[in-house]
Amino acid sequence: MGLLSFTLLILGLFQLVSAQQNTDPNEVAALRTLINYWNLGSKINLTIDPCNQNASWTSEDSNPRVACDCSSNICHITHLKIYALDIKGEIPKELFELKELMDLNLGQNVLNGSIPAEIGQLSKMQYLSLGINNLTGAVPPELGNLTQLNSLSFSSNNFFGPLPKELGNLTSLQQLYIDSSGVSGAIPEEFANLKSLQILWASDNRLTGKLPEYFGTFTEFRDMRLQGASLEGPIPSSFSALTKLEDLRIGDLRGEASSLDFLDSQTSLSTLSLRNCRLSGQIPERIGKFTNLKYMDLSFNKLTGQIPTSFRGFSSLQFLYLGNNNLSGELTEDMITPELIALDVSFNPLSGNLPTQFAKTKSINVVGTSINANGLQDNKVSGMLNCIQGKTKCKNKGSSTSFSIKCGGTAQKSASGIEFDDDSEALGAAALYTSTDEQWAVSNAGNFISNPKGNRYVAMTDSQITETLESELYKTSRISPSSLRYYGLDLKNGKYSVELHFAEIEMEDSSSWKGLGRRLFDVYIQGEKVLEDFNIQKEAGGSKKALVKTFEANVTNTIMEIHFFWAGKGTCCIPYQSTYGPLVSAIHASQVSEAAGASSSRKHVGQIAGIVIGAVASVVILSSVFYLWWKKDPQGHMRIFTDSPRKPLK
Ligand SMILES: *[C@@H]1O[C@H](CO)[C@@H](O)[C@H](O)[C@H]1NC(C)=O
Ligand SMILES: *[C@@H]1O[C@H](CO)[C@@H](O)[C@H](O)[C@H]1NC(C)=O
Ligand SMILES: *[C@@H]1O[C@H](CO)[C@@H](O)[C@H](O)[C@H]1NC(C)=O
Ligand SMILES: *[C@@H]1O[C@H](CO)[C@@H](O)[C@H](O)[C@H]1NC(C)=O
Ligand SMILES: *[C@@H]1O[C@H](CO)[C@@H](O)[C@H](O)[C@H]1NC(C)=O
Ligand SMILES: *[C@@H]1O[C@H](CO)[C@@H](O)[C@H](O)[C@H]1NC(C)=O
Ligand SMILES: *[C@@H]1O[C@H](CO)[C@@H](O)[C@H](O)[C@H]1NC(C)=O
Ligand SMILES: *[C@@H]1O[C@H](CO)[C@@H](O)[C@H](O)[C@H]1NC(C)=O
Repeated sequence: MGLLSFTLLILGLFQLVSAQQNTDPNEVAALRTLINYWNLGSKINLTIDPCNQNASWTSEDSNPRVACDCSSNICHITHLKIYALDIKGEIPKELFELKELMDLNLGQNVLNGSIPAEIGQLSKMQYLSLGINNLTGAVPPELGNLTQLNSLSFSSNNFFGPLPKELGNLTSLQQLYIDSSGVSGAIPEEFANLKSLQILWASDNRLTGKLPEYFGTFTEFRDMRLQGASLEGPIPSSFSALTKLEDLRIGDLRGEASSLDFLDSQTSLSTLSLRNCRLSGQIPERIGKFTNLKYMDLSFNKLTGQIPTSFRGFSSLQFLYLGNNNLSGELTEDMITPELIALDVSFNPLSGNLPTQFAKTKSINVVGTSINANGLQDNKVSGMLNCIQGKTKCKNKGSSTSFSIKCGGTAQKSASGIEFDDDSEALGAAALYTSTDEQWAVSNAGNFISNPKGNRYVAMTDSQITETLESELYKTSRISPSSLRYYGLDLKNGKYSVELHFAEIEMEDSSSWKGLGRRLFDVYIQGEKVLEDFNIQKEAGGSKKALVKTFEANVTNTIMEIHFFWAGKGTCCIPYQSTYGPLVSAIHASQVSEAAGASSSRKHVGQIAGIVIGAVASVVILSSVFYLWWKKDPQGHMRIFTDSPRKPLK
């Protein structure tokens, strides 16, 4: 055989091979290394070509998934998904041999180390998700090289330092998920170029500076979440141009006051949360014409004036939170539409009458108002609580010197003799419950928007709780996505010792991605902040470990208020959707006898424990059925574990 014919034979073989769609050998070698490194050999078997169309891992819903472009003579790997499979270790350099990658999803794993600068070589990338991992270091400026990017997620990681200005080069970017990523500092001015943005999630970061005015030029915005991001107000009036918004959540703004004037023609809004934003002025009448609005939270602001008359017959609205404002006038019956599930108007100088019929169907909280809601709510307790704001004088004589509550659980007697009262009722999305003996009350305002599991506002575990002899005390707890208040009632005035019992029972100490969650919340006693950015798991040294925090408080008007408050911090969705906000296992408060001092308070309470008995009566409203209106993903699954939709939702 001559050399020529030999060469022809080889060429012919080569063509035959390429007709069978062989993959770039560099890429196959790199993929082999990745698969070995992440122990995925049982799922992707490279004895056959990774781009073979018959291979099980090429189908759209397979995980792990490898998919290729074979339109030229040689196949290139274009898609790689290794999602929620707990792959560990640092991002291997071999990944950057897959130069044709356009869709890389390594979300919900426990990758650590930093993102290598070589990520900038993957310049064909359109969808990149590294969300929910344990990555650290700086966010590499080389990401700005990926100018084809349509969606970028590095949410829920441990990065530090600023957002690189180079990200401003990503002018095709439609979706940016950077919530809970750890980034800090100013949002670079170059971000003004991100004019294609439709979705921005940036909550729970330590950003500085003002909410950028130029966001108002991103007229494609549909979904913006900036809660607990540490930004300053005001909400720019330029936001009036964001007419395509469907979901807007801004919260916990510092700095200057904001008004609601920017809400003009955002009639596509379905979820609007502007909680704790220093909003002042009135609620514009025109919001009542936002006929797609289902969830509205304007609580913890300084809004004045009346509830707009346009809210009468606001038929799309299901959840309305207006608590802790300065709204006055009458709450009228016609604001309670048939569609309305929960209404929180607590702590406003509102008046009016609400008929008893709502008690059976609605979750309504009118604590700290002058609304007469006979049957709806325990008026007596509501009246008692009015005096907290100094509007009326507290009339009670103050007969009790302690209260003890098994938050979210049934009555228990502790080894030290404290009888913790039952607090196991399912709370509503806006509700007040009072113990039968009226020694204490609990109030919730807030709804776990994305998770029906949160409905009862109780968390439970079967696991043993350590660092305590009272494991049972910590196996259940109250949870709330927003604001949870306990009130000790009818107390003798004086100095009290307040023990708050905590154990993290939702966040896990897992080596899986499920162990990457962070819960942070604040606690106020008698209006004074005693805990800020409190992280039970971190302080207790792990999950399912008991932690008791003791504080001193003065009772001057027969009432003690203990307020657990979410200020937008912490991860949203680990280990499952809507895992955030306050959690408390038990409360025990007792008067400190001046002679004996605080150290003997426990003994003191043991002696009087018999006085405080009782179970929680469902005096109030049964909470109505909750359900999701949350969007289903394109496959029709509820997005329970994902915090980042990665495809454009066009
Ligand atoms: C991969 O496939 C080959 C041939 O089909 C088979 O012999 C081998 O056992 C497979 N390896 C694994 C890890 O499944
Ligand atoms: C896929 O399977 C079919 C049927 O078994 C076969 O005809 C075809 O050649 C296979 N394709 C590849 C690329 O192996
Ligand atoms: C990443 O995690 C592995 C264990 O999975 C550990 O050995 C390695 O030191 C970690 N690397 C960094 C940079 O933290
Ligand atoms: C940026 O992408 C180009 C290809 O578009 C590539 O040549 C270059 O090396 C990349 N730069 C970095 C810093 O990765
Ligand atoms: C990317 O952004 C940086 C800083 O904003 C700029 O200096 C650089 O020229 C940009 N690169 C490209 C390729 O546009
Ligand atoms: C509440 O609003 C009233 C007017 O309705 C005003 O007089 C008062 O100063 C406001 N209070 C606060 C604390 O803003
Ligand atoms: C994440 O990394 C930190 C160190 O940076 C480590 O302490 C922690 O255990 C890691 N978490 C998981 C779930 O691997
Ligand atoms: C309680 O009152 C005493 C006496 O007025 C005061 O010294 C103390 O600081 C107060 N404690 C708290 C927690 O406010």
